[in-house]
Amino acid sequence: MIKISPSLLACNFARLEEEIRKIEEGGAHYVHIDVMDGHFVPNISIGIPVVEALRKVTSLTLDVHLMITDPDRYIEEFAKAGADIICVQQEACIHLDRTIRHIKELGKKAAVALNPSTNIHALEYVLPMLDMVLIMSVNPGFGGQAYIPYSTDKIRALRKMTDSMGLKIDIQVDGGVTVDNCHEIKAAGANVLVAGSAIFKAKDVKKAILQLIEY
Ligand code: DX5
Ligand code: ZN
Repeated sequence: MIKISPSLLACNFARLEEEIRKIEEGGAHYVHIDVMDGHFVPNISIGIPVVEALRKVTSLTLDVHLMITDPDRYIEEFAKAGADIICVQQEACIHLDRTIRHIKELGKKAAVALNPSTNIHALEYVLPMLDMVLIMSVNPGFGGQAYIPYSTDKIRALRKMTDSMGLKIDIQVDGGVTVDNCHEIKAAGANVLVAGSAIFKAKDVKKAILQLIEY
């Protein structure tokens, strides 16, 4: 099943609750929350209080993408704030195995994101512990960037790896996902699509979500 996780980074932050209603009515499955610290990525976005506030107004799965240095320091707080999925960047975790165990012990779904240049083999040994892998299809930090074409080969290689290991793991893709490239992304084996601009900048949010599912 294809799942859509609209990235709030492209929404109107002054009208957060209305934006959430739009994607709920549009049939989104998750809400993708991009947390940036100005260290791991050259941008600062939103954090724990916003996750807490969103938890009170929606029952959608809160898909929290931590683009932060030393995520271990904050995982517990994000869990308490109401995150359902906690995704850390592989490049930010020196002891990735420990970090994943920590997320699981808190009763949350664990995901790891890979920057475009990071090899999928960095996750080979921890894959059985993961609920989801996030393939970054842009360099993290900003919304509205163009999809990096080699990401499709990377998704295909990762799906081959999870299949050969007999794992039913979600593959999420984040960055530059549009109605024009979603078909090749899904065909390569991804089943969770993050989209910011393609959803929130669309005239009709519901139509955009439907097209990302069906195209
Ligand atoms: C980038 C973020 C993405 C971003 C996607 O660092 O992780 O979630 O908001 O935005 P679009 O879909 O506009 O590329
Ligand atoms: Zn993201």
